[in-house]
Amino acid sequence: MTEMVTLRVNGREHPCRAGIATTLLTVLRDQCELPGTKRGCNQGVCGACSVLVGGKPVRACLTLATDCEDREVTTIEGVGTPARPNAVQQALIDTGAVQCGFCTPGMVIAATALLEEHPDADIETIRQGLSSNLCRCSGYRKIVEAVSLAARRTAS
Ligand code: FES
Ligand code: FES
Repeated sequence: MTEMVTLRVNGREHPCRAGIATTLLTVLRDQCELPGTKRGCNQGVCGACSVLVGGKPVRACLTLATDCEDREVTTIEGVGTPARPNAVQQALIDTGAVQCGFCTPGMVIAATALLEEHPDADIETIRQGLSSNLCRCSGYRKIVEAVSLAARRTAS
């Protein structure tokens, strides 16, 4: 059985249908037409599905859509645009830290939330903060460097 829920995503209201086990990830991708949030493991392990709910990073594959009513959801589409990337996105581009890109939306969300909380994050803080976001392509070094660059640019 499903019910109508209205999600507020990236500042827009999205009326959706959700059952008791429907995840936020499913609704975002299949009903809100926001495919930037990736379905990786679908088990809470990889971080590819990270989004912000009430400004805090969550795994959309483990979050029930019905629990997100009346809360602001921000996906990668709401963080920046190709024309106006946020500081983390710009730094990832500038340092060539994107390979296949599958993990990138989740990394950007996690890093953006991390820098919001720790604007002066050092390398170790960034490494730890991103440690539960998995990347199949890289050794993480460039991603951590990019987030560090974003932190320095934001601070200056
Ligand atoms: S898809 Fe949600 S943590 Fe992997
Ligand atoms: S860039 Fe390919 S999974 Fe991270």
